Amino acid sequence: MNCAHRNASRLYVYYLGVSPVGANGGVGKRVVSRLLNRGYQVRSLVRDAKKAQKVLGKNVEIVTADITQPETLTPEIFKDVSKIICCTGTRVQPAQRDTPNREKYSQGVNFFMPEVIEDPQFVEYEGMKNLVAAAKSQLQPSNNKILFDFKNPTQDLKETWGALDDVVMGGVSESSICLTDSGALFSGNVSTENSGGFVSVRTRNFDPPINLLGSAGIELRVKGDGKRYKFFLRCEDKWDGVGYSYSFDTVYNIWITIRIPFKDLIPVFRANVVENAQPFNPNQIYSYQLMLSKFEYNRELNAKFAPGFFQLEVEYIKTYGGDQLPKFVLVSSAGVTRPGRPGLNLDAQPQIVQLNDQLKGLLNWKFKGEEVVRSSGIPYTVIRPCRMTEQQGGQALIFDQGDNIKGIVSRNDIAELCVKALEENRAGNTTFEAKGDQENQATAENWERLFNGLKLDGKKSPLTI
Ligand SMILES: NC(=O)c1ccc[n+]([C@@H]2O[C@H](COP(=O)([O-])OP(=O)(O)OC[C@H]3O[C@@H](n4cnc5c(N)ncnc54)[C@H](OP(=O)(O)O)[C@@H]3O)[C@@H](O)[C@H]2O)c1
Repeated sequence: MNCAHRNASRLYVYYLGVSPVGANGGVGKRVVSRLLNRGYQVRSLVRDAKKAQKVLGKNVEIVTADITQPETLTPEIFKDVSKIICCTGTRVQPAQRDTPNREKYSQGVNFFMPEVIEDPQFVEYEGMKNLVAAAKSQLQPSNNKILFDFKNPTQDLKETWGALDDVVMGGVSESSICLTDSGALFSGNVSTENSGGFVSVRTRNFDPPINLLGSAGIELRVKGDGKRYKFFLRCEDKWDGVGYSYSFDTVYNIWITIRIPFKDLIPVFRANVVENAQPFNPNQIYSYQLMLSKFEYNRELNAKFAPGFFQLEVEYIKTYGGDQLPKFVLVSSAGVTRPGRPGLNLDAQPQIVQLNDQLKGLLNWKFKGEEVVRSSGIPYTVIRPCRMTEQQGGQALIFDQGDNIKGIVSRNDIAELCVKALEENRAGNTTFEAKGDQENQATAENWERLFNGLKLDGKKSPLTI
């Protein structure tokens, strides 16, 4: 996919770990490659553009700035940026110097007495203030968008939807959509004759495509007939391409609200699941479709299907979750609230906590930087990794809230978490620690459980969550 030509919103990523050879270190470069793979348009902010170009390649826009120098954070840098993942950090190196490729530091397995080579107050705190102040107007919570208000239709809306039934494949089903006092009525007769068995209404393709980035999903207000319907979104302009589908059950003659989380959409081609499809891309929606089909997925039958008359009323279609979806993901650190905590057994703490004074109060400044983000009014996620390593990753993660855990975690897994958090409503306005689960591999169920278990930050500082 050529990101440069897409009508996509920009993500603004602080790239970390530009090392001379680029192979080692850095959550930032891993975040960038994951974002590109997911079809995001990425602009990376770095201090050294030449080094960054070598590591990041050509598909990413690079801008040069320094968060400790507010005059470099110009409005042009933030233009069209819709989200920021910030992975900056004070440079720490072994006190006896690192290898040219920073292997000692990046490895995160062996211990080397560390030293900071920049003042953490400026990078972690003043830098965060500068960055948040410069980007704030660009990252305000998005309001949930009404996509179709069928009770108050515009002329354009009347021309947007049309029937698409199994007659295109030789069937004899028939449907239509018309406006009534309570919304849009999708109704007709569905028949399984001539190997048919589906009716649908679909929008024309939008030009330009609609950008739903920043929402968690689609909400429909419907009154049906007890049957199971499908809703589709399409991220390409092909008429007969991959659709992203969600099945929902209606309740006979009762208005209900259906929420369709983007993360639960299933990529399908003519009712068959497409295993290696591109992930759903919310910033490029070409069309919507409502369908009643005899089939569920992969030739399985729709358990709530019956041929004959059907009707589904729809009051509105809108997005939801925009207020909470994170727009600023900050990679901070486990341990930020521990220095000076009463009753803490320092000997049992990770080295970074024990060495905080020697590191010029690094953790205290990181905590203050977190507070800048939390009080900014921007929907955020603060991720506090335990000690990071260069291990391959792919492990399940363990989250905690309250800043008590210790352990290790792969930078790859933290990068994956940053990208997942962006699209995760439940990660909005949360602060949590993360470490690798050395026993288990990451699975979709595990991610689901992790995000489900997160508690919103309270009004009090997360020191006491
Ligand atoms: N190492 C660990 O075990 C560990 C554990 C938990 C949390 N963390 C934290 O996790 C974050 C990511 O870690 P990492 O290993 O990816 O870090 P890293 O490899 O040390 O990279 C730090 C990056 O921050 C950039 N940076 C520093 N000051 C900057 C400034 N003023 N303006 C713009 N960019 C600046 C650096 O840019 P240059 O390339 O120009 O130097 C560098 O690329 C950091 O905040 C780190 O403190 C680390």
